[in-house]
Amino acid sequence: MAKTKIAVMVSGGGTNLQALMDQEKAGNIPSGEIDLVIASNDKAYALQRAAKYNKKTAVIKRKDYADQDAFDAAIVKTLRDNGIEMVILAGYLSILGQGVISAYKDRIINIHPSLIPSFCGKGFYGLKVHEAALAKGVKVTGATVHFVNEIPDGGKIILQKAVEVEDGDTPEVLQRRVMEQAEWILLPKAAEMVAHQIQEEKRHESERIS
Ligand code: GRF
Repeated sequence: MAKTKIAVMVSGGGTNLQALMDQEKAGNIPSGEIDLVIASNDKAYALQRAAKYNKKTAVIKRKDYADQDAFDAAIVKTLRDNGIEMVILAGYLSILGQGVISAYKDRIINIHPSLIPSFCGKGFYGLKVHEAALAKGVKVTGATVHFVNEIPDGGKIILQKAVEVEDGDTPEVLQRRVMEQAEWILLPKAAEMVAHQIQEEKRHESERIS
């Protein structure tokens, strides 16, 4: 059965993309292959990481499009032109509209740096998530991988992993611990789970029509 073709969408440093590519290289995502990296801006260091691993890249900037629908259509066209079957949002900061979500229903996953439903939804991204966790004084935080739907961070939860908050943590120190102990472990695992599930669905479909 052909591997599930995966696109990873990025905006920043790309440490989650790096974890995905390293796990793919180590043979730990056997059901999928990362065929495309799409960045929301051309300054994203994630693009340099992708280039080092000879991954095809594309930059699709929201400000280049008149409205959300045109932006969505450009993303869907790029995904379809590359035969992409599954999308991973890895630190991706642009809003994906209904055009993309419905084209890839239950095929888009996202990593969020908290234990959803805490510290998630509109305005909770990057360091802001960890600032809120520290302000609240939680003793445990973590990361969540979930399916993407029309509600920010609202889709079905796939995997979660808890991480201890330690005395004296700054948002930066906590972010790094959540990345190392949760995000970089969960996202490759979830990628394999969903890529395998898609392979199974394709297998059942081919058996059904054969
Ligand atoms: C980080 O805040 C991470 O927790 C979240 O997106 C941001 C950038 O991650 N998932 P990356 O280094 O670009 O993967």
